Amino acid sequence: MALKLRKKTHKDTKRRPRKQIVDLTFQNIGGYDSVKQEIRDAIIMPMRHPLLYKKLNIRAPKGILLWGAPGTGKTLFARTIARECSATFYHIRSSDIMSEWFGVSERRVRQLFVKAAKTKPSIVFFDELESLAPNRQAIMIEDARTSLLSSLLSEMDGFVPLNQVTILGSTNIPNRLDPALLRPGRFDKMIYIPPPNKAERKEILKIHLNGKPIDEIDVDILAQKTHLYTGADLELLVNNATTNWLKKFIANKKEPLSMSYFEKALDGVRPSLRGEDLRYYEYLRNYFERSSSSTNMKSELSPTYYG
Ligand SMILES: Nc1ncnc2c1ncn2[C@@H]1O[C@H](COP(=O)(O)OP(=O)(O)OP(=O)(O)O)[C@@H](O)[C@H]1O
Ligand SMILES: [Mg+2]
Repeated sequence: MALKLRKKTHKDTKRRPRKQIVDLTFQNIGGYDSVKQEIRDAIIMPMRHPLLYKKLNIRAPKGILLWGAPGTGKTLFARTIARECSATFYHIRSSDIMSEWFGVSERRVRQLFVKAAKTKPSIVFFDELESLAPNRQAIMIEDARTSLLSSLLSEMDGFVPLNQVTILGSTNIPNRLDPALLRPGRFDKMIYIPPPNKAERKEILKIHLNGKPIDEIDVDILAQKTHLYTGADLELLVNNATTNWLKKFIANKKEPLSMSYFEKALDGVRPSLRGEDLRYYEYLRNYFERSSSSTNMKSELSPTYYG
């Protein structure tokens, strides 16, 4: 009996690629000087000087994958890159693309690439890429994502580089992505965003403390006490300390935001990373530095939590 396919009658009116205006610069990102430099070389320079790249026949990476632990600033970096390149930013999550209707997801992918080319310079950012393009071997039964992945791959293959559309992806678990995505001409550059070290935590804290009524805060000590905290944890820490201070301020207790508020906030905000997460990310970093394909990759490994 012939297989019945659902008719393509569904009107795809609800979801459209979201275009965003971003108001961020690298100054809003604390630390990570070497990551910023890598991003300038791989993305910003080719986006800003497409004609020079074309004339000298230099190939810029087509797709760049930002990977690392949750809360280390991958989305922040993507938004900032768009701003630094004055590019239109398309922030795509799997829910923007996935549909249970036959052919709709694939059509959305196609439309997205067409739209990005029309509005260039543009950056298409696939957030949490593993939910759009998981390793096909790990999917027990063929589901909608298999054909969606094929569309994504063929759009990336057919895509002419150096036309000022850059594709970014982000993931916490690159070993769970379909290996075909990481082949040359697709996500052919991977940039690791590690958990912040002490000097970086200090810079991140300074950014989030900026403009707060602080008094005698020893940022160095705070950075020391926040081993395994990510940028997102540090933001939450400062936010909680400031909120507690504000409650007292409103209740008429006029005192500066001092270190004691941060000591208290440290009890409530625990680091989201664990030692074993560092080992997981280091394993992957070593793996990807040696090879860009995922053969022999321990795809079953995962961090203790991911977004
Ligand atoms: N280097 C940093 N400097 C300043 N703030 C930071 C930094 N890293 C993270 N943050 C703060 O943490 C918030 C969350 O970061 P972001 O959402 O970019 O993390 P992520 O890596 O995308 O996480 P996930 O993997 O869960 O999506 C940012 O909006 C920012 O406020
Ligand atoms: Mg993110």
